[in-house]
Amino acid sequence: MADTYSRAGNAADPPSLSPDYRSTVLRAPSRPLVVIPQTLSEITGPVYGHSDVSPGEADLTKQHAGEPLGERIIVTGRVLDEAGRPVPNTLIEIWQCNAAGRYIHETDQHPAPHDPNFTGAGRVVTDDAGRYRYTTVKPGAYPWRNHHNAWRPAHIHLSLFGPSFLTRLVTQMYFPGDPLFPFDPIFNSVTDAKARERMICRFDLDTTEAEWALGYVFNVVLRGPAATPPDLD
Ligand SMILES: [Fe+2]
Repeated sequence: MADTYSRAGNAADPPSLSPDYRSTVLRAPSRPLVVIPQTLSEITGPVYGHSDVSPGEADLTKQHAGEPLGERIIVTGRVLDEAGRPVPNTLIEIWQCNAAGRYIHETDQHPAPHDPNFTGAGRVVTDDAGRYRYTTVKPGAYPWRNHHNAWRPAHIHLSLFGPSFLTRLVTQMYFPGDPLFPFDPIFNSVTDAKARERMICRFDLDTTEAEWALGYVFNVVLRGPAATPPDLD
C-alpha cells in the first residue's frame, strides 16, 4: 500500500470561509468536518503518461490557424512533493483568459473581445525531474462582481494531480508586481504573506527567448510547510 499523508494540512491553506471573497460564504462548511480514513481511494490516484497528452497541448498559441494577440510567454518550473522531491509524470491542466481579460465561457459577458486564435486551455505532463514547460500569452486583468470595481490580477489557473487524490492541487499563478494584489480577495484569502509570494511566478531571463517570448519560472510544492497555496475558487 502506498504511503499515507500527514493530516495537518498546510499552513498556507486559506481558510474555507474568507468573507471578503463572497462566494465562500455560501460554500464554506458550516459544521465540523468528518475525518475519513486514508485508504487506497485517497492515497492513490490516476496515472498519466506522456502518451496521453500530446506535446502540442503545451503550446496555447498554436491551437488555431493564426496566432493569438498579446504578450507571448513561456512558463516553466518543477513540481515537488513535501520533501522537496520532484514529482514526475504528473498532469498539469492550464486554463486562463485571453490577453484582453476575456474567457470563452457563457458567464463571462464583460465587454472585452474574444480572440479567435486563443482558447485558453492546455495540458502538460512533468518529466522525470518533475519539470514542465508551456507557452501561452499573458492573460489580462478582468472585472468580476465580488464587490464594486472588483478586478482580478492577471493569473493562470492550474490543476495538478500529483501522485494521489490527496495531493491534487488547484491553484492560480500570478505575475510579479501586479498593482491589483492589495485589492483581490482571492489572492488575500491566503493570509500568510510568504505563502502569497509562493503563488507569484518569477521573471527569468534564462527562460526568456530573444526576439520571441518572455520567460517565467513557477515551482509548485504540493504539500508541506512550503506548499503552494490552493485556490478557494
Ligand atoms: Fe480566472
